Amino acid sequence: MENSVPINNFTRRSVFKGAVALFCSSALPAKAQDAPQLHVLKDPSCGCCGSWIKIMQSEGFDLSVQNTSNEALFQYKLRNGVSEDLASCHTGLVDGYVIEGHVPPADVRRLLAERPDAVGLSVPGMVVGSPGMGPESERDAYDVILIRKDGSTEVFSRYEEG
Ligand code: CU
Ligand code: CU
Repeated sequence: MENSVPINNFTRRSVFKGAVALFCSSALPAKAQDAPQLHVLKDPSCGCCGSWIKIMQSEGFDLSVQNTSNEALFQYKLRNGVSEDLASCHTGLVDGYVIEGHVPPADVRRLLAERPDAVGLSVPGMVVGSPGMGPESERDAYDVILIRKDGSTEVFSRYEEG
């Protein structure tokens, strides 16, 4: 009987490993492939950035986050076609598009589906009630702005007061 314990353990471990392998080879990669990869630069002390990041993650985006100084972040925005008047806190990059500030996930999904010839989207400033900026019931009206490659802008979508 002394032998049966290690054998049992070994068998259980093998079954467990097999289950992990099965899970990893089927379920996980399929989901990772669908998830748009969103890389976000933010100031380390920005709390609302973290709130927006959590929302995007829960909406199925695959996030990588980079903390950087305010000055480096500002230069990064300018380099990526976000002028000062369109700037917010964090700056995201997804599939070649810039996502500036508290842009709702639905707008990012629409952008990726429609794929306009553009720099990306911005919600300038920090609008109360936009995703990551407090409850929608207290929302101020705001526009999601589409930034064209020539620097011109148009309204991509509009959110009414909550
Ligand atoms: Cu913010
Ligand atoms: Cu932010």
